[in-house]
Amino acid sequence: MRIDILTLFPGLFQGFLNESIIKRAIEKKLVDIHIINFREFSRLNNSQVDDTPYGGGSGMVLMVEPIVTAIESLKKDNSKVILLCPQGNSYKQKKAYELKENSHLILVCGHYEGFDERIRSFVDEEISIGDYVLTGGEIPAMVVCDSVVRLIDGVIKKDSYLEESFTNNLLDYPTYTKPREFRGMKVPEILLSGDHKKIDEWRKQEQLKKTTEKRKDLLE
Ligand SMILES: C[S@@+](CC[C@H](N)C(=O)[O-])C[C@H]1O[C@@H](n2cnc3c(N)ncnc32)[C@H](O)[C@@H]1O
Repeated sequence: MRIDILTLFPGLFQGFLNESIIKRAIEKKLVDIHIINFREFSRLNNSQVDDTPYGGGSGMVLMVEPIVTAIESLKKDNSKVILLCPQGNSYKQKKAYELKENSHLILVCGHYEGFDERIRSFVDEEISIGDYVLTGGEIPAMVVCDSVVRLIDGVIKKDSYLEESFTNNLLDYPTYTKPREFRGMKVPEILLSGDHKKIDEWRKQEQLKKTTEKRKDLLE
């Protein structure tokens, strides 16, 4: 899979791409991630990409032309163009599974006051990572990228995500590690029993219990 991220602030992705699981996925060539500064696509003096809003108001608005030129220079028949935007569809694990099936994603990050409304006509989908407003689309792009890349075959063990939260509309079961007891709180006996059939049953029950307690909406 190839992922192109269009941003005005490529430096924000340094840590994201150079640590842990994402770094290893890139090294193993399971994903090819490119960070592209759409300032390079400006035809104006000083590579200008934003301007004041028509009609007045505060902040700067990203211009349509450099972003659309950047999208068009990257887009192929198999590409899916996603705009990160607080007004988009709420991002869910189900969508991460859906996006994982694409061979090319282009993620467009807004910044400042947002972008010229006409940009919406050049994207396939708008995604919001939640009902709050961030300074830019870079963190949302990392959220989408991270959640998709970890589902690509070979990135992490399949067992790790087949039972995790939101798969099968359930939350994950409780997990413990050493020590067996901490300040009087003991690891459930069943997990020390070595009886894997019973452990599996217990975990399923716990998933249901947790989901009922914390996220009943997932079961509905
Ligand atoms: C300050 S926000 C612009 C908010 C816009 N004026 C509005 O009220 O809808 C700047 C950029 O950050 C990104 N952004 C902010 N919050 C986001 C969210 N919850 N989900 C996805 N992207 C977000 C978008 O790319 C947006 O264009």
